[in-house]
Amino acid sequence: MTFETLKPQVSTIVSNTEKTVNERLLIICEILEKHVAYYNWVGFYFRNGDKEELLLGPYVGAPTDHTVIPFGKGICGQVAVSNKNFVVPDVAAQDNYIACSISVKSEIVIPIFVNEKNIGQIDIDSNTPDPFTEADERFLEFVTAQVATLF
Ligand code: SME
Repeated sequence: MTFETLKPQVSTIVSNTEKTVNERLLIICEILEKHVAYYNWVGFYFRNGDKEELLLGPYVGAPTDHTVIPFGKGICGQVAVSNKNFVVPDVAAQDNYIACSISVKSEIVIPIFVNEKNIGQIDIDSNTPDPFTEADERFLEFVTAQVATLF
């Protein structure tokens, strides 16, 4: 399924006020993992109040031990500090990387901004080497902008 087809589906999920915010976030994870072949783990991390750490939110894929990630640690923790997209074509080439599963080859993390503040991120792991393009970044920026409206 193309990103252009997925975008209105994401908007529909976000605007469904009959579901809780976490239910809506989980459904977004589910449709992304289902419809993009190389998205194999899809989840959200959010800043824990004023603490310099991220907490795992809704996700789809293999369970992870990394439910709390300090700012600066791993790809996710670096995005919490840099406020920038982080595309990792080859996770084995990163020294500041937290491995969740040996099958993961690549990762993309896009921050979520509310009133210009980085409140969290969407994190996607792929079992395919180097699968992400600018189209993924633009699509996931759309997703994070939509998610931001929930906060
Ligand atoms: N690989 C991430 C940790 C989170 S897992 O991918 C679910 C990182 O280096 O921050």
